[in-house]
Amino acid sequence: MKIKQAVIPVAGKGTRFLPATKEIPKEMIPIIDIPMIHYIVQEAIDSGIEQIVFVNSSHKESIENYFDRNYALEKFLEANNKHKELELIQKIGNLVEIVSVRQKEQLGLGHAILATDRLIGKNNFAVLLGDDLIKGAEPCTKQLMKVSETYGDRPVIGIMDVPKDDVSKYGIIDGTFMEGDKQTVLMKDMIEKPLPSKTPTTWATPGRYILSSDIFEYLKRIKRGAGDEYQLTDAINLMCKSGPVYAHFFTGRRYDTGNIFGYFEATLNFALADLRLKNYASDLIKKLAKDL
Ligand code: UTP
Repeated sequence: MKIKQAVIPVAGKGTRFLPATKEIPKEMIPIIDIPMIHYIVQEAIDSGIEQIVFVNSSHKESIENYFDRNYALEKFLEANNKHKELELIQKIGNLVEIVSVRQKEQLGLGHAILATDRLIGKNNFAVLLGDDLIKGAEPCTKQLMKVSETYGDRPVIGIMDVPKDDVSKYGIIDGTFMEGDKQTVLMKDMIEKPLPSKTPTTWATPGRYILSSDIFEYLKRIKRGAGDEYQLTDAINLMCKSGPVYAHFFTGRRYDTGNIFGYFEATLNFALADLRLKNYASDLIKKLAKDL
């Protein structure tokens, strides 16, 4: 089954990035000169997605505007012979079809996904969280789509191994490896932010999912969980008890850009990979390190 829609929830308050997020959506904060959300949307497009569904909240219109045309700016750039810049912003305005739905109260990720049920209908869909950047040879979402196809169009959750002390930052899964597939696990359980002393595994879910529309039924059934929020984890946990749900160790480097440490790490690494900044950044890092 070809997956055409990706849900990107961006309605969160971004409290770990205050004061910047007092007025700027977290997802619009740039890594060098490209907003984080652009990387996420690009991953979806590179995976074959044709429509992006944003779950948005008030005061975050700039995210939708960023992916729209800006005719006044285009006219200005044209009049000033800034053709390269013109081409760049026109391209962003034509990247992909965007629709959005409002989450009126921020009651958690599960609540945000449930807001998309009418737009998704009976289709399978991808979910990408707006503050997890994953860079690798093949887009993470594409990797999960392939696994879903291999295993009968069933849901697949992207996972990575984390240090035991970090499990309480994530949804953690438990399950058994599929025969002949050392990267894919048949899920038995999913628990939101367990204590390190109580965790079944160290297999964490950083924010990439392929889901079937059944998830909406489970999202309607769950009660408020960890952090007093409606957790997507709790709905997936119910789903994996009623039919096969898989978890897949994706390849690629993941940056948690929702916190300042992950954001800083991504900025450094992206600068070192940017042809314009590569030499400047490495010379600067060496110089600064010498003075430490
Ligand atoms: P986070 O847990 O990172 O929450 O949400 P947050 O509000 O964005 O950031 P902090 O923790 O306060 O700093 C993970 C993803 O789920 C979305 C967020 O926008 C983010 O992409 N989300 C979260 C919603 O869309 N709605 C919610 O009610 C909660």
